[in-house]
Amino acid sequence: MIAETFHRRDGRLWCEGVDLADLAERWGTPLYVYSATAVRRRVRRFRTAFAGLPVRFCYAVKANPHLALLRLLAREGVGADTVSAGEIRRAVRAGIAPADIVFAGVAKTDEEIRLALELGILQFNVESREELARIDAIAGALGRTAPVALRVNPDVAAATHDKIATGRRTDKFGLPPEEAVDAVRLAARLPHVTPVGIHLHIGSQITDLAPFRTAYARVFALVDRLAGEGIRLRRLDLGGGFGVRYRDEEPVAPEAVAALVAELLAGRELELVFEPGRAFVAEAGVLLTRVVYRKESAGRHLLVVDAGMNDLLRPALYDAWHGILPVTAADAPEETVDVVGPVCESGDVLGRRRRLPQLARGDLLAIATVGAYGAAMASTYNSRPRPAEVLVAGDRAVRITPRREPEEDMARECIPAWLDGAGATSPGGGDGDGGPP
Ligand code: LLP
Repeated sequence: MIAETFHRRDGRLWCEGVDLADLAERWGTPLYVYSATAVRRRVRRFRTAFAGLPVRFCYAVKANPHLALLRLLAREGVGADTVSAGEIRRAVRAGIAPADIVFAGVAKTDEEIRLALELGILQFNVESREELARIDAIAGALGRTAPVALRVNPDVAAATHDKIATGRRTDKFGLPPEEAVDAVRLAARLPHVTPVGIHLHIGSQITDLAPFRTAYARVFALVDRLAGEGIRLRRLDLGGGFGVRYRDEEPVAPEAVAALVAELLAGRELELVFEPGRAFVAEAGVLLTRVVYRKESAGRHLLVVDAGMNDLLRPALYDAWHGILPVTAADAPEETVDVVGPVCESGDVLGRRRRLPQLARGDLLAIATVGAYGAAMASTYNSRPRPAEVLVAGDRAVRITPRREPEEDMARECIPAWLDGAGATSPGGGDGDGGPP
């Protein structure tokens, strides 16, 4: 966490000029709270580090797609890296110009390709020859030309969680270098696409510079090779993946990445794109949760809290470690506890064997570093509400998403008439009663 944005005042945890306990009181828990200042600082740190280099940042919308954060990032001059029509629409709605949007994703549908073409995005990050042909055909039908970058899979294994590594030969992403070069040659021949670059992204939460160096060097070499054949690419999209500190990791400094690419660029006329997601927003968010029960079981102390794996999936899905901090009562004697959520799965554990001051029902905890892949991956599993979100800037706090109540989902569901013989009982989105099966 960034001390200047989340800090303690008289033993209580604050976000900028706002007491977090007041926010929990006002809007209930679980509650995501983001610091606008923290996001701006992260973006500006990257900008400063890369000053003087031909670099543009396209924020990976998937990390946290909230319109308010996208607007804040747009104001900072950041573009968007998108993977669906939904993300493209969000970016545009938030004020990001289509010319600052890249569109990646392994399964772009015709409809999505059409939308991106009609808007006139910066480039398609293309995963296969078949996709290339599809984009060419649709662009032809619309009378347009699609700027494309081929995604290379550089076969680099970065030390990160297996489920978020993407740059190994066995991962589903991109094409091996030889096949990618062939695909660029194909793109150069197709009438309705223009090869503008190469794309790569080797994984997420990477805290070592070495895999970036290996992967980047491989694609710079490909650019040179293609130039030798008369295919001049103007852009390299080097993806995201820059890790943050959840516990004791030493993240790669943006300055070190900048020095690396300055060295690799060495006078070449290339524009670089980076797609940071986590590095821009992770540290800017906490999830507030209240203790519902204490439970002593088989010699363990459990704190049962009101946030679960539906609100924050990372611990259950990736065994991710997030800091858990008391919001108040920080000076009570410490004990070792497991912090568990309410969802009916043994995997719904937010933190094991944590040292925390003794807390009681009603006390508040903050789960740290959840600005990225927190709310974005929340669901309504167990028919729980989706948590509300708040954005803080100075002493202003705005609830930017109300809690989504199960009632809203039920209102969209319908019970077929044949189940009770009396006509559909809900005005929701069902497709008529369909009759008996
Ligand atoms: N570009 C591409 C093509 C990506 O696939 C991703 C993330 C990014 C950029 C942004 O990566 P970042 O800078 O945030 O590391 N849900 C997982 C992370 C999945 C990342 C998927 N792709 C988690 O909670 O750790």
